Amino acid sequence: MPRVVSGMRPTGKLHLGHLEGALKNWMRLQHEYECFFFVADWHALTTDYADPSPIRPNTLLMVGDWLAVGLDPNRATLFVQSLVPEHAELHLLLSCVTPLGWLERVPTYKEQRENIRDKDLGNYAFLGYPVLQAADILIYQAHFVPVGEDQVPHIELTREIARRFNKLYGEVFPEPQALLTQAPRLPGTDGRKMSKSYGNDIRLTDPPELMWEKLRTMVTDPARVRRTDPGNPDVCPVYALHRVFSPPEHQVHVNAECRRAGIGCVDCKHILYENLRERLAPIADKSAYYEGHPEEVRELLIEGSRRARQCAAETMARVRAAMRMAV
Ligand code: TRP
Ligand code: SF4
Repeated sequence: MPRVVSGMRPTGKLHLGHLEGALKNWMRLQHEYECFFFVADWHALTTDYADPSPIRPNTLLMVGDWLAVGLDPNRATLFVQSLVPEHAELHLLLSCVTPLGWLERVPTYKEQRENIRDKDLGNYAFLGYPVLQAADILIYQAHFVPVGEDQVPHIELTREIARRFNKLYGEVFPEPQALLTQAPRLPGTDGRKMSKSYGNDIRLTDPPELMWEKLRTMVTDPARVRRTDPGNPDVCPVYALHRVFSPPEHQVHVNAECRRAGIGCVDCKHILYENLRERLAPIADKSAYYEGHPEEVRELLIEGSRRARQCAAETMARVRAAMRMAV
């Protein structure tokens, strides 16, 4: 069975963008492939090294949400990167065959160095981030890597590193392919891409009052100032959420009524709110259960990591042999 690997940085409780972007995809893939899904805690450390204390609690909360949406630890191997230290060993070996120029050219590197001002990203590990990601993928000899568009250059680099390794030492790694998540980018409450770091996210587990407050104050079509102004759903971030979370008949209704000012934005948001609640209430209940039982999550991650480690250790034996480094 072809193998799939993907990782997520431990951001704590997840939001609607994670659900539609990554998780829905992962849920489908766990039925069709041998899947390894992991918490990229070392990746978090490359940017958040100054205060690592949130990483552990966020790991448990995030995986609680994975389970709450329906990822099944009996189908997919769910694990924590740092519990499989072979990732670090392969990272070191791959770093030897990766030219600096390849890393300096990675778009996320340049962008984040310029845009993230509150952290000093002049550290060595931050530049090497994509090599660690390559190790995460290649150590499972993965065929497919489900990621968002922003991660495609990292997968391209992984392929280049694999090719370079194979040419120097012999064929060990298949070249993995990105599986693009086709979900539309969800806007957050301010209309920019939904992201925890922008503070514009709606969580799967937001209590009803908070969720309503976020929707009530969410930006709409900026041209629709007064209740009597007709609106344009095509440019409205609220409507973008309707497209994903409301049934077709609600979409048709809201779309038509917005255009002729037959419905106000608050009514429109209320319809969305009800649909979101219906979809999220069962997820929030399960998430609360796991939040109350962190031991259960922890144990399942330890077991998943043990399984992942067996697989990683097999690859490492082949890697050491190929490099004539076996003892
Ligand atoms: N870099 C990815 C992100 O920020 C997370 C990640 C780390 C990952 N290692 C990976 C994704 C391996 C896919 C495969 O989203
Ligand atoms: Fe957006 Fe709905 Fe207001 Fe139209 S009615 S502008 S779709 S929030």
